[in-house]
Amino acid sequence: MERRILFPQIDGIMHGGDYNPEQWLDRPDILAEDIRLMKEAHMTSATLGVFSWSVYEPREGEFHFEWLKDTMDRLYENGIYTVLATPSGARPAWLDEKYPEAMRVDDYGVRSHHGVRHNHCMSAPVYRKKVAAVVNGLIDAVGDHPGLLMWHVSNEFGGECFCPLCAKRFQDWLGEKFDHDIERLNRAWWATFWSHKYSDFSQIEPPYRNGEFSSLGLTLEWKRFTTYSMTDYMKSEIAILRERTPQIPITTNYMKLFYGLDYRVMSKELDVVSWDSYPLFHNDGESFADTMGENAFDHAVMRSMKRDRPFMLMESAPGLVNWQPCNKLRRPGVHELAGMQAVALGSDTVQYFQWRKGRGSFEQYHGAVVDHLGTADTRVFLEVASMGALLEKLSDIRGTIVKARTAILFDWDNMWAIDAMRGLSQETKDYPKTCVRIYRSLMRFGVDIDVVASDDSLDRYDVVIAPMLYMLRPGAAESLRAFVERGGQLLATYLTGYVDMDQLNFLGGFPGEGLAELFGVVSEEIDSLYPSDRNQVNFSDGTAGTVQDYAEVLRVMDAEVLGTYDSDFYAGTAAVTVKAHGSGKAYYVAARLDDGAMGRLFERLLQAAGIPVSELPDGVERHTREADGKEYVFYLNCSDEPKTVSGVWGASLLDGQQVAGELQLAAYGTAVISQLQKERT
Ligand code: GAL
Repeated sequence: MERRILFPQIDGIMHGGDYNPEQWLDRPDILAEDIRLMKEAHMTSATLGVFSWSVYEPREGEFHFEWLKDTMDRLYENGIYTVLATPSGARPAWLDEKYPEAMRVDDYGVRSHHGVRHNHCMSAPVYRKKVAAVVNGLIDAVGDHPGLLMWHVSNEFGGECFCPLCAKRFQDWLGEKFDHDIERLNRAWWATFWSHKYSDFSQIEPPYRNGEFSSLGLTLEWKRFTTYSMTDYMKSEIAILRERTPQIPITTNYMKLFYGLDYRVMSKELDVVSWDSYPLFHNDGESFADTMGENAFDHAVMRSMKRDRPFMLMESAPGLVNWQPCNKLRRPGVHELAGMQAVALGSDTVQYFQWRKGRGSFEQYHGAVVDHLGTADTRVFLEVASMGALLEKLSDIRGTIVKARTAILFDWDNMWAIDAMRGLSQETKDYPKTCVRIYRSLMRFGVDIDVVASDDSLDRYDVVIAPMLYMLRPGAAESLRAFVERGGQLLATYLTGYVDMDQLNFLGGFPGEGLAELFGVVSEEIDSLYPSDRNQVNFSDGTAGTVQDYAEVLRVMDAEVLGTYDSDFYAGTAAVTVKAHGSGKAYYVAARLDDGAMGRLFERLLQAAGIPVSELPDGVERHTREADGKEYVFYLNCSDEPKTVSGVWGASLLDGQQVAGELQLAAYGTAVISQLQKERT
């Protein structure tokens, strides 16, 4: 595998952040100081213009890009490249005043007001026209600037619009999807139920006051439409950028596993995936290592959308944020640990929100590299500068790839469908949380894990875990069968294969589409347990696992039973099974088991697949990037105590030392070990 370099201009891992010089145009002293401090902090990029529209265009048609050009010039002269945003994340007041249809309508049918961000209507033609004008202006002004590195389209897309225009586009989109045949839609939505049949697409309203609607088809398709509509809006910006600056790569900044938009669909339009990571570090509900583990999962989700190239950590907080329930300071060392985690999982950048704290308004207390104090000797500045120096030592890592042999299946349609179904317990379905728990259990073995959808190719994997794969994407069952038949180790859980993409149940036994034959079991009933209820699975090897929340009652056809329920009316019946297909195996875990029991099963799968597992101390993560025959193994100590990892050999990239057997990690410490692939045992 060869390196995939995102930015040849930058020699190493990019270090940068959101920079808002437009807030300081009356302070040339501060603007000059910014450049000096950026160099001191080893910054190689700055993200400009995310919310600059009212400065670019204070009155309709009156443009001012001089200050932007001037800033980009000064950055470039000092070796700092620009990630340039299009400013559509927030609109100037004149626009909302004159064209209120640019503002979004909520699910009560009420139009938004000026003074909020991220609330534009995705369909409004006038909005697209005004965005096109400012984006074209930007390209005229700086599109050929040598410092322009990449386009950052808008900011954190999200939300829905229920205006009449969006409602009409929803109807048209459904018409297209169902071949303009309303009876096809009625069948797909099982619409004779409660008299929900339509006779024309024009009768279909969006799900106003979402949640109270009984037509599951309507609410699911509305979510899919919202993704379509947002992507279509994003494409309207991208079309201009691609046409006029085809050489400049394009991204948009995602949020953590964002519920409302299927990022997999949006990513097809982008050159690079980037996201904003703000974990709730040091919270009082979970261990620090678990918070880090969830963040690792999020990185893996982002990376896996473009599996063969690095992604970007577009935003992260230096010090603290200002919007969490409790805005706790990151403890010393955590800054470097979090940045290194992003790189370990495949990011070629560590970027921040924000470079300098503003004096006023909503985010004046949000962490920044430069505080109100304004000096380079603060704890946060020093930690950022040291991160920058460290990233310079990692130039060899640039463009390397995480090549996982293990995958977890996760996708948005499945998440929406599980949430929408009326059944189980509304409180404990926890689909994303279940995927995160499984990711963390697997990660304890030091293996790399992709997070992909059931219709992504599984060719590169040897172990696939399918948690709660309730909805089967087209071709998914076939792909899982082919995976096992070529020797893959597959593990699926309760709630597998109940519905198709229209949420219609498969007849003839779950899991449907022939998966019952693959696993050798049929799930006949599913029991939802109250939060304090427990059962147990007794395994044939003498171990046991605790069951909570869900337990399916299985009918075993031709699978080997590995574990049985301990109590209740289904005591003694199968809870965990396996069916062999040559060297491939299909495991079925019918209950929600504790992490220990799941971990033992995962170890069995990894060993059968010949994937080397590591013994890691509690709280230590291990991730690998590779290319051109070299491997870089990252060790991250996600705890506030020193740790020793055994079985580590190679050269440490950070201090140049040879590690022979034992690696010492300081509290929150990190190490990167370089080794030739053939040295690996
Ligand atoms: C991000 C957003 C930034 C800033 C930041 C604060 O979600 O893109 O503009 O608001 O949060 O944490």
